[in-house]
Amino acid sequence: MTRPDSPPLPPSPPTEGVKYAGSKLKLLPLILELARRTGARHLFDGFTGTSRVAQAFARTGHRVTANDTSVWSEIFATCYLRNRESAARYQELIDHLNALPPRDGWFTEHYGGDDRANGEKRPFRRHNTMKLDAVREEIDRLSLSAVGKAVALTSLMLALDKVDSTLGHFSSYLRAWSPRSRHQLRLEVPALFPNDAEHAVHRADALVLAPNVEADLAYYDPPYGSNNDKMPPSRVRYAAYYHFWTTVCLNDRPALFGRVNRRADSADTASASPFEEFRKDAEGRFLVIGALDRLIRGTRAPWIILSYSTGGRATAAQVRELLTAHGRVEEVVSVDHRRNVMAGMRWTNEWSRELSVPNRELLFLLRKG
Ligand SMILES: C[S@@+](CC[C@H](N)C(=O)[O-])C[C@H]1O[C@@H](n2cnc3c(N)ncnc32)[C@H](O)[C@@H]1O
Repeated sequence: MTRPDSPPLPPSPPTEGVKYAGSKLKLLPLILELARRTGARHLFDGFTGTSRVAQAFARTGHRVTANDTSVWSEIFATCYLRNRESAARYQELIDHLNALPPRDGWFTEHYGGDDRANGEKRPFRRHNTMKLDAVREEIDRLSLSAVGKAVALTSLMLALDKVDSTLGHFSSYLRAWSPRSRHQLRLEVPALFPNDAEHAVHRADALVLAPNVEADLAYYDPPYGSNNDKMPPSRVRYAAYYHFWTTVCLNDRPALFGRVNRRADSADTASASPFEEFRKDAEGRFLVIGALDRLIRGTRAPWIILSYSTGGRATAAQVRELLTAHGRVEEVVSVDHRRNVMAGMRWTNEWSRELSVPNRELLFLLRKG
């Protein structure tokens, strides 16, 4: 059912993030509107990724608990949520990092390329990995606070994301250099919004953390069912796709393997998340559905917004069963992926049917109990 009388939604406040499969940037106005209907003041963003959803909620006066298993997500969320200083306070640090002379180092050896690269594809041009080598060493050398370091690393990742030669992830690199890779790496102070709210940031399995978070509303955007055709739903593995951001954050010079120089600890046999499983259990239920079932059961918040993309591994019938088992679906928004978000948006109470339509991004507002 469409609601033609719905007033236009207010735009979301500005947020920042790297290119990310499954980023909810375009859906932020809808997620904020669903949350407004619950009156929630404290949001638990269980799979925060870029932290854009967490940023939007924090900027609109909510208290936020952000979580993800990825180290880069923890860095982004720490930078935006836990910072209490004005952006101007970091300008000197960023100017200092920009002024460092480029130098050859570990990142250049493994990720920097030039035009003579005899067929070897690399995600960055050499002049930019040489800057990266200099800046990353200096960030460790300076005695920065945890938040100061998160601000510097976020600034570095946002700058690298503007000069990469990838499709937006690091599991394959472009054959020909992207035009943006020619530009010079240049750090900027992130768009900070200093605040003294009681935000919290965790790097944990959402299944383990959820029972300990006393929020009013949980937003769950697990990795299953990505509709990005560069990232088939059967194999959505964030640790593998974004291994490079892990290494930028940790600067730990890990063992590498394969053509794209992936971290050994991001191999398929390591670091699997139950939400990235595409297999079924003995009863024929997708393992991801079992994980979601346990997650919702363990959630203390009385309200849950669940993101779900149709066409993924979790089938319509299993998602329907899951939702109805845990409470009442109060609202559903369905967005057609192929159209501009607002033009392709429908509020619907025929959500059961919508689950079987391909290319839909669904947002379920579930009242638990
Ligand atoms: C679809 S993305 C989230 C995107 C995010 N909403 C945004 O707008 O950027 C899914 C995220 O789940 C994380 N993840 C995977 N398994 C997890 C788990 N067991 N607990 C917490 N986070 C997990 C991945 O690292 C990834 O960042």
